Amino acid sequence: METTGFIHRFEKGQPEERPLLLLHGTGGDENDLIPLARMITPTAALLSPRGKVLENGMPRFFRRLAEGVLDEDDVRRRANELADFITNARERYGMASPIALGYSNGANIGAAVLLLRPSVLAGAILLRAMPPLAHPQPIKLDGVPVLIASGALDPIIPLESAAKLASLLERYGAAVEHRVSPAGHELS
Ligand code: MLT
Repeated sequence: METTGFIHRFEKGQPEERPLLLLHGTGGDENDLIPLARMITPTAALLSPRGKVLENGMPRFFRRLAEGVLDEDDVRRRANELADFITNARERYGMASPIALGYSNGANIGAAVLLLRPSVLAGAILLRAMPPLAHPQPIKLDGVPVLIASGALDPIIPLESAAKLASLLERYGAAVEHRVSPAGHELS
């Protein structure tokens, strides 16, 4: 279904449960994270957009100049566009503000939304994430819960980079838990 600019999938859930916003990795789509989300919560609503940027035909949420080198102007533009989509979708589907569940490129756009438009998210689960912006403006995250899950052997996102994101979000007031597992970039 396409409304408010993003092809997306929406699954209804129990109103008392916090919805999840699913953000896939490069080359994925709106279906990828549904099974993982259902392992986390069998009954919450799920909102799952498809990234609009194509890299060699592979959907992503923003442009990059090379692996691990992000186009920050595009990150800002796309994070704002995604935040507007979330706001519109909340109205359309009658949803509470969601917790982002993002993997890789999806985790990075989720982190960018937290840094640029914090009021649209209730929290974030960021799998294999790095800082999406080198010098974001300081903001107040006032205890927003964030789980960052990194792979100790990740060749795309070195552990120091994930740790930098964790300390940045913590400095801005988020309640960050950073977990590191003996894995690479893939989910395990
Ligand atoms: C990104 O572009 O967001 C990062 O390089 C992660 C990736 O997509 O592989």
